[in-house]
Amino acid sequence: MSTLEIRHLRKAFPGVIANDDVNLLVQSGETHAILGENGAGKSTLIKMISGLYQPDQGEILIDGEARRFDTPRDAIHVGIGVVHQHFMLIPALTVAENVVLGSELSKGRFQRSKTEAAVAEISRSFGLPLDPSARVRDLSVGMQQRIEIVKALYRKVRILILDEPTAVLTPQETRELFVVMRQLKAEGIPIVFISHKLEEVREIADTVTVMRLGKTVQTHPVAGTTSAQLANWMVGRDVVFSDHPPASTGIGDTLLEVDRLTVLDERKVQAVRALTFAVRAGEIYGVAGIDGNGQTELVEAIAGLRPVQSGVIRFQGRSLAKVGVRGRLRAGISYVPQDRQRDGLVLTFTLTENLMLRDLSRPFSRGGFLTRKAARQRAQELLTEFDVRPDNPSALAGSLSGGNQQKVILAREVASRPKLLIAVQPTRGLDVGAIEGIHRQLLRLRDEGNAVLLVSLELEEILALADRIAVMHAGQIITELPRDQADIETIGLAMTGERRAAVTSEEGST
Ligand SMILES: Nc1ncnc2c1ncn2[C@@H]1O[C@H](COP(=O)(O)OP(=O)(O)O)[C@@H](O)[C@H]1O
Ligand SMILES: [Mg+2]
Repeated sequence: MSTLEIRHLRKAFPGVIANDDVNLLVQSGETHAILGENGAGKSTLIKMISGLYQPDQGEILIDGEARRFDTPRDAIHVGIGVVHQHFMLIPALTVAENVVLGSELSKGRFQRSKTEAAVAEISRSFGLPLDPSARVRDLSVGMQQRIEIVKALYRKVRILILDEPTAVLTPQETRELFVVMRQLKAEGIPIVFISHKLEEVREIADTVTVMRLGKTVQTHPVAGTTSAQLANWMVGRDVVFSDHPPASTGIGDTLLEVDRLTVLDERKVQAVRALTFAVRAGEIYGVAGIDGNGQTELVEAIAGLRPVQSGVIRFQGRSLAKVGVRGRLRAGISYVPQDRQRDGLVLTFTLTENLMLRDLSRPFSRGGFLTRKAARQRAQELLTEFDVRPDNPSALAGSLSGGNQQKVILAREVASRPKLLIAVQPTRGLDVGAIEGIHRQLLRLRDEGNAVLLVSLELEEILALADRIAVMHAGQIITELPRDQADIETIGLAMTGERRAAVTSEEGST
């Protein structure tokens, strides 16, 4: 049972005050959320509490006593356990070896069987299933996070801090994490939960402190707040929550037709099975579904990145069978993939260069070379319009945070005004302010008479944007509904593969 208090904490980096008069009181036995946009200063605060950074000013008090942490070891010593945004595990070592690594107890000889038994006992009593002798490199991200939690428990943690723990998890893993968090709370361990997701904070936290631009702006019991209020504190202005999109201003001709399409995955299993649907100009067609139901294979086949086993994909009436990736781009099909770092950006290029990748044969290039000034100017406009931080055209793509890299890719693809934009999880990992901006851009693209094929695991996002909603399950579209007939229960149920009698199904779905 412990309390953590932060008073007037400040930390500046060259050119930015990451924490500026931060105040926080985390009481014994509570789950306290710190909510804030990307760049608000959450991780910097946590790094000071965990001894990785030293504050310029202010105090950290544990149980009312001011503490100074010169190294992470000092913080661990008083019982602060942190699961950082980027895990600090050694892939070649086993679970048990990682758990004892760096703790006081590992100074002596490593006693394998004893340690493994201890790890097994912790994982059993806290409902965190783990094999102590497994190698970290063989484990999923969710499992690795578990190791970090077990590591903290092994060190007899008095306060557990989780920095954006759900950012890397599937919805299912998030559920499992919340079960563990509830159990830890029941054991009286105060938890600091960092997030930029309102819904998660509302679900799991007792108290919320909102950070904005390096400052703590509000602390409030979660029960007494609304999402709109939290969002408002977070971004410093009113955020409009529309769960009904402004209706499409005009549905045009069919642009994309997918006709009895079958696509194989890496293991040569049919990931998409005789699937049929069509997307028309002027609409956002939303594909909902649990991860791994063929969504990735479907969009890759449409983008030309994955072979079609059988069936036809047509764009503006023409089969794409003989059209490659570049040809599809030229025809007006843009694709924003899910794995953006890998597929979308050249990390060693500047933002200008990345933003102009699509335009190599257009106004900004002369004989294949970009006219520097025009390109830079256009890049600057896009960075501002899409709220990329920093909005410096000369910055290297690799130096940006993941969320901002994502905005750069979206800016590039949306700015090319494609006839069809295929967007997979376009707002994943972004904060509310940025999500609102991206949504506005997608709606604008639609209202100009283009089509958007939106694939998302976030049902709220589909409901907020799509004019028609399809649910994919086991490689098929098992339900397709206009937005005004769709509700969260029907769609959610369909995602699990169930269908209500009243729900209409599409051809190709059996
Ligand atoms: N080591 C560092 N050096 C320079 N700037 C940093 C460093 N760490 C964080 N920053 C800056 O401090 C601000 C807050 O970052 P951070 O604490 O990571 O925010 P959050 O975790 O809320 O997204 C950002 O502008 C970020 O670029
Ligand atoms: Mg952070």
